[in-house]
Amino acid sequence: MGKKFVLSIDHGTTGSRVFCFDEKGKTLSSAYREFTQHFPKPGWVEHDAEEIWAGVKFLLQDAIDKADLDAKDAIAIGITNQRETVVLWEKTTGKPVHKAIVWQCRRTADICDELKKAGHENTIRAKTGLVIDAYFSGTKLAWLLDNVPSARTLADRGRLAAGTMDTWLLHKLTGEHKTDYTNASRTMLFNIEKRTWDDELLSILRVPASILPEALPSCSPFGITKNTGVLPDGIPVLAMAGDQQAALFGQLCTEPGQAKNTYGTGCFLLFHTGNQFLISRSGLLTTLAIDKKGGPAYALEGSVFIGGAVVQWLRDYMKFFASARETQQLVEDIDREEDELVFVPAFVGLGAPHWDMKARGAIFGITRDTSPARITRAALKSIALQSADLVKAMEADTGQSLPFLRVDGGAAANNYLMQFQADILNRRVERPANVDTTATGTAYLAGIGAGVWKDADELRSLLRDYSIFNPEMSEEKRSRELKLWQKGVERSKHWVD
Ligand code: G3P
Repeated sequence: MGKKFVLSIDHGTTGSRVFCFDEKGKTLSSAYREFTQHFPKPGWVEHDAEEIWAGVKFLLQDAIDKADLDAKDAIAIGITNQRETVVLWEKTTGKPVHKAIVWQCRRTADICDELKKAGHENTIRAKTGLVIDAYFSGTKLAWLLDNVPSARTLADRGRLAAGTMDTWLLHKLTGEHKTDYTNASRTMLFNIEKRTWDDELLSILRVPASILPEALPSCSPFGITKNTGVLPDGIPVLAMAGDQQAALFGQLCTEPGQAKNTYGTGCFLLFHTGNQFLISRSGLLTTLAIDKKGGPAYALEGSVFIGGAVVQWLRDYMKFFASARETQQLVEDIDREEDELVFVPAFVGLGAPHWDMKARGAIFGITRDTSPARITRAALKSIALQSADLVKAMEADTGQSLPFLRVDGGAAANNYLMQFQADILNRRVERPANVDTTATGTAYLAGIGAGVWKDADELRSLLRDYSIFNPEMSEEKRSRELKLWQKGVERSKHWVD
């Protein structure tokens, strides 16, 4: 008999990854592929759901081959995904009727303004824990139904299915139409106390219940593989979770007061609040998270829209370097330490704690010696500065001071960024040896579902190695950096009408 393993599919905003984990929680292999970002208009972002599925299929095979495994020995599959991105497809053909609208897309900003004007803010906040913003799936779905020819008629006739990317991938793997609570909690259509689709919200947003998937806890029997063209039939999908909640679980933050910040395409700080549904007074969201056995719990969340994506922009559009890995050396080679450069990467508006859909990116303080390296440094700093704004809001809301910041995600591998993060927060930053906690968390959840592990407590011994970054910056320099940053942020607000 071959080696048993758990498959974890981590579909992010920029690329997808597939990991194979053994029964000790050790990574056996991983495979990664970026996919195309479509920008049909300024501030609009789309993905091709078919391209994403084709990529995931390729990666499943690649990851299994790399570890010399046999697909039939897969015990379970876990799916984690970029949240809020939504796709609408025809039930009979399984074909999307339009490209997926990505969480970063601002096309529904005006619909959101209308919802605010109509006075729906308090209802939406009380039921979903969210603010009204184009970030969430609800207005994107309404846009698709209103703008794709015949979509509303087809939806009314029961011919369309909708879902976030977890649901899309599950559908392709198993034929089922389901989602999990954490993803549902990002749609602006889900009542996070009752954990059901909410009729009042569905009617406000004019989304028919018939197109929505069944919502289940993150650790549930979601379906078994069928006709995938890459995996044998019968492998169970036992876990699904939004990537940020999966990372929280991957860091084994399953108790109230535990928090992590993930540096991916965006940055997402989640603070576990156990079974308490707290409403933020500082511009944070309330969202469904996961308890130590895979059941539902609550968290406060700070969401930054552009984190690692600013590095991708410098690489792909400015052509400053060929690979994100080069940025650390590039900025460490800058000879003069100080400058007044501030880069506010509000490419798709500002998320928490500002929530300004009409802000746009800006670089302030350019002088004749401003070089690609200096702009890159300002971009890296902006990732940490935005995260520092989240920590501040989190502390204001909870009345607790975070003793240290636990980090993960691809961009957390950058030592310059992590040191600057410790400096600007004036506290310790702890980075686990494995920064892919999103995929790890999902594998843990799928493993719990399959009975490999009992709960998060049993997994704690697996997460032991951390790199520590201690603050070294003077108080004077820190307050200067923070002051310049605040000035830049204020000037980037309300840029477009
Ligand atoms: O809410 C959006 C988030 O889920 C995207 O995550 O990892 O692609 O930055 P990521």
